Amino acid sequence: MSMLQHLLVGLGDRAYPIWIGHGIFDRLGEALTAVTFPRKLAIVTNPLVARHYGEAAQRALDRSGFQVSTIVIPDGEEHKTLAGVQKILDALIEQEFDRSSGLVALGGGVIGDMVGFAAAIFLRGIPFAQVPTTLLAQVDSSIGGKTAVNHPLGKNLIGAFYQPRHVHIDVDTLSTLTAGEFAAGMAEVVKYGGICDRHFFEQLAEQREKLMRRDPAALVRMVKRSCQIKANVVEIDEKESSFRAILNFGHTFGHAVEALSGYGCYRHGEAVAIGMAFAAELSCRHGLCSSQDVVAIRELLVAFDLPVDPPAFSVKDYRQAMQRDKKVREGVLRFVLNRGIGDCVMQEVADLEEALRDILAF
Ligand code: NAD
Ligand code: GLY
Repeated sequence: MSMLQHLLVGLGDRAYPIWIGHGIFDRLGEALTAVTFPRKLAIVTNPLVARHYGEAAQRALDRSGFQVSTIVIPDGEEHKTLAGVQKILDALIEQEFDRSSGLVALGGGVIGDMVGFAAAIFLRGIPFAQVPTTLLAQVDSSIGGKTAVNHPLGKNLIGAFYQPRHVHIDVDTLSTLTAGEFAAGMAEVVKYGGICDRHFFEQLAEQREKLMRRDPAALVRMVKRSCQIKANVVEIDEKESSFRAILNFGHTFGHAVEALSGYGCYRHGEAVAIGMAFAAELSCRHGLCSSQDVVAIRELLVAFDLPVDPPAFSVKDYRQAMQRDKKVREGVLRFVLNRGIGDCVMQEVADLEEALRDILAF
């Protein structure tokens, strides 16, 4: 039995629907028809995702009369580069794609970010749709229009804000995801509860067992609430002039963990989990949340198989790595701090060095 839920990202003339469900993969053609998506399109994916879902996507789109070709690019964060996007652009030019064509990103956040960026710059912009197949992409990266590739000097340094026309989420695709990738996505879900919705946070703890065995109905509810929170934030502050930065809870310290350990050592979600545990401690130290809140955040992350303890680097290393974070403006480092589960605030931390020394305690 299929189950379908609808959301809308309300961005005026760039508003777009999110379909969330299980057993809805074969309705992709119907969904793209509903948003008058270009009839000529390319599915862009990687070999692993193509093996699992390539044919099903092609069939769903063929059935609705789309003219479909497929572009397969290598799997992995290391290919999220300008050269990687160039491969997509080369294929589009060779296959004579024009302004009346579109792209479908079938895969995780790497594919989504690259395809979104390719769509933003090809012929100064063609429509694209997101078909996210990792938990992280379903609850986070496919929504909100951040597209980017990495530069040798840093992650996501080259990109554009460019919204998709449609986001199509079938949680059944999560059945083939590894436990590690599933856990990494859960970090972003816990984040939404921690910063925006206490009730949701508590439900995650209650539903843990169902979620861990990937019960479709529980997943649909969880992904829907996550998308709703993200959409609401993006509607208020699409281009991150201020409010959207709350979505970076745990990310400042998390990015330092990733950078210091060497990219690839921790998954992004794992590093964010460590970062959230750190940010919670910092919040408690500043009298913003209780020690029980810190424990609750740590316990929920651990319950979803996520790490919470930072790897052993010096206070100086952490401070320098955080100072390089691209969220630093005019040299000032601001943290998203927890103001009790379900609430947060952005604030400068004057005593960062001392706080690092106390919290890291090595
Ligand atoms: P990913 O895209 O690398 O996917 C992880 C792995 O899972 C890959 O090997 C992929 O091929 C595989 N995979 C994908 N779907 C699968 C499925 N259904 N079954 C089995 N395997 C599957 O990683 P990710 O965690 O999805 O995304 C990380 C990227 O997202 C990073 O580049 C990060 O910068 C970006 N990101 C972007 C935003 C945004 O707002 N645009 C937000 C957060 C993260
Ligand atoms: N993942 C953070 C954002 O989209 O703003």
